[in-house]
Amino acid sequence: MLIHLIAAARPNFMKIAPLYHALKKEDWAQPKIVHTGQHYDVNMSDAFFVDLGLSEPDLHLGVNSNTHAEQTGRVMIAYEKALIEERPDLVIVVGDVNSTVAATLAAVKLGIKVAHLEAGLRSFDRTMPEEINRLVTDTLADLLWTPSADGDENLVREGIPRHKIIRVGNIMIDSLEMLRKDIEKQKVFKELNVIPGEYGVATFHRPANVDNQTVLKELCGILARIAKKIPLIFPVHPRTKKNLENFEMWEMLTDLQGVILVDPLSYIRFMNLVFNCHFVLTDSGGIQEETTYLKIPCLTMRPNTERPITIEQGTNRLCTVDNMEILTEKILSENTPKSSIPEFWDGHTAQRVVESIKNVTAQVS
Ligand code: UD1
Repeated sequence: MLIHLIAAARPNFMKIAPLYHALKKEDWAQPKIVHTGQHYDVNMSDAFFVDLGLSEPDLHLGVNSNTHAEQTGRVMIAYEKALIEERPDLVIVVGDVNSTVAATLAAVKLGIKVAHLEAGLRSFDRTMPEEINRLVTDTLADLLWTPSADGDENLVREGIPRHKIIRVGNIMIDSLEMLRKDIEKQKVFKELNVIPGEYGVATFHRPANVDNQTVLKELCGILARIAKKIPLIFPVHPRTKKNLENFEMWEMLTDLQGVILVDPLSYIRFMNLVFNCHFVLTDSGGIQEETTYLKIPCLTMRPNTERPITIEQGTNRLCTVDNMEILTEKILSENTPKSSIPEFWDGHTAQRVVESIKNVTAQVS
C-alpha cells in the first residue's frame, strides 16, 4: 500500500514522524514523505528531519512562501503531477496549514483517498487561515482521525458520517515521548544562562499578533515588563523577525534586559527549554498541547483556541495584551493549578492510526 505523508511546515514534522516510523515497520505499507517546501529554512525544516530521525523526503515540491492563493495553488499544481505519476493508495495530511488543504484538494479530485490526522479541531474563527484549511480538509477527507472528543463532536455537527471519524489521540505526544531521553539530556538553558524553573519561554507568529505594528509594539512592551521580573527566552519565527525589522523594533528588543532572543530552535532543543521553564507565553497551536501534557502553565495570546481541551483539562489560558502581564504575575505567585492529561495523549497514537488503516483496508478488500 503506497502511502504519501504530506509534510510542509514546522508543526507538521512532529506529526508525520511517529506515523512514518510506525508504518515503516509494517510489511504491507510503503510510506513516502512528500515535502511541499512551505517551510524551507534549515531551522524550520531540515533540523526537524534530523531530530525526528526522518530521512530526506522522497518527493520535494519546492513550493516556498507566497500569498495564500499562490502557495495553495502551487502545491496543488506540483502535487497533482506527483499524484498522477505515483497513484498512491492513500494520502495522509496533518494539521491545518495551507499545504494540508492543497494536497487534499489535489488528491480527492483524482479520486485518491485522503485521511486527515488532527481532524475536527475548530476555533470557530474564520478570520484565521487555519480554520478555513481545517473546514475544507475535513469536508473532503475520507477518514478523519481526531485527537479528542470535541473533534468528534464538531465533525458530527457538520454532518460528517460517524463511520469516517476515529479518535486516535494526539500524535505530537508520540514525538515527545519518542525523543524524551534526548530532550532531557540537553542543557540549552545552560547555554542561555538561565536557571531551570526560573525563566519563561515566549513564541509569537500569528498574523493577528505580529503583522500589525500596534499590536506587536504593545506585545513587545509587555514582554519587556515581564522580563524585568523573570528572564524570557524568545525564539523568533521568521515572520515575526521580518515584521520586527520592518517596524524598526528589532534593535530595541535585542537591547532589552532579560529578553533573550534566539533563532528558531530544533525540536529537541526547543522542547528542552519548555521542559525546564516556569511558564510559556505563546500563540502557537501545538505548544498549548505540549504544555498541557507537561503540566506547565501556558498563556495563549489569542481570542479563541481550536484546542479547548487544553483549557478545560489542561494548563492553558487565553489572554490579551490587556491581561497577559497580570496573568503572568499570577502564575509567578501561585502554585500551578491542578490539571489532567486528555485521553489518548499517551504516545501510542501512531499505532492506533496504523490499526485504523489496517481495519479500513480489510473492510474495502
Ligand atoms: C504557517 C502556518 C501556520 C503555522 C506556522 C508554523 C499557514 C496558513 N500557516 O505559518 O498555521 O502555525 O506555519 O510556523 O499555512 N519564512 C521563512 N522561512 C521559512 C518559512 C517561512 O523565512 O522556512 C517566512 C517567509 O517570509 C514567509 C513567512 O515566514 O513569508 C510566513 O511563512 P508561511 O509558511 O507563509 O506562514 P507561517 O507564518 O510560517
